[in-house]
Amino acid sequence: TKDNIILGIETSCDETAVAIVKNGTNILSNVVASQIESHKRFGGVVPEIASRHHVEQMTVVLEEAFNQAEVDWEEIDAIAVTEGPGLVGALLVGVNAAKALAFAKRKPLVGVQHIAGHIYANRFQQEFEFPLLALIVSGGHTELILMKEHGSFELIGETLDDAAGEAYDKVARMLDLPYPGGPEIDRLAEQGEETIDFPRAWLGEESYDFSFSGLKSAVINKIHNAGQRGEVLKKEDIAASFQASVVEVLTAKTLRAAKEYNVKQVIVAGGVAANKGLRNELQKQFNEAQIPLLIPPLALCTDNAAMIAAAGTIAYQQGKRAGLDLNANPSLEL
Ligand code: KG4
Ligand code: ZN
Repeated sequence: TKDNIILGIETSCDETAVAIVKNGTNILSNVVASQIESHKRFGGVVPEIASRHHVEQMTVVLEEAFNQAEVDWEEIDAIAVTEGPGLVGALLVGVNAAKALAFAKRKPLVGVQHIAGHIYANRFQQEFEFPLLALIVSGGHTELILMKEHGSFELIGETLDDAAGEAYDKVARMLDLPYPGGPEIDRLAEQGEETIDFPRAWLGEESYDFSFSGLKSAVINKIHNAGQRGEVLKKEDIAASFQASVVEVLTAKTLRAAKEYNVKQVIVAGGVAANKGLRNELQKQFNEAQIPLLIPPLALCTDNAAMIAAAGTIAYQQGKRAGLDLNANPSLEL
């Protein structure tokens, strides 16, 4: 059978990314222009700045992706683009670029849901085996998803309030750490100890849902009360204690779901999958349980377009097509 070469475009948040992927499994190029430096001084992503950067970077990143892959337009079978969820103005830049290219180059267009992309970031390492359980932990999402076949996603649990990455970023802000806070807390946690017993939000024995806002409040209160009493808390210990709570709940619920649904594989996706504490604990517990666990390499955990091209390849092979009326959908569900 003929190879499928798919161009992927991702602009849902603060990375302008274009990639070229062969057969959904081989990365020919994966170019990411990060805007983190431009948003840092505002302590978070500023939507207008994000959109403007995407506009400025798109053609540069696109050209680089073609140069690195050493393919030309004739070899491209389809264009896959993130249609949501994300920042609407940011998404629109990618969607419009993809539509313009699809029209000009006469290529089929495929819309990709961003979280499906994060899941498919794992397929570069190993072929999927179903049923498969995916733990999605990013800045906007914390979800457990059951997949019985390619392109099918069943939500079995999700956060009732903050996403895991959001909790990391908010706690980091309380500790005066630069944006994005996740990697900073991860680094501090390695040097600290779990001296504070923060709550674990189990939400009942049967639940696969998550909640991080209570934990976040507990951290605020702890810092506030310590300040009033003139007690000195080490940032490293706060980070380690906070991370211990997040990691314990994420790991335990994922393991319980993996056993209940008798899955063949567990995959972890999203920016928080880069977290060392989480990776270590998951590796340890899934090793013991003898359930195969896949975690993408660090560069494929955070936003990129290779994962969008990989998910787009499956959609393309399943015959899914978007028209030139494709629109950005900031709250698109899986
Ligand atoms: O998937 P992603 O790049 O963007 C979204 O789609 O949200 O995830 C970004 C999130 C941010 O909240 C960031 O703080 C968090 O992932 N993150 C981490 C780590 N690296 C990134 N959180 C904890 N530990 C890390 N090492
Ligand atoms: Zn993401």
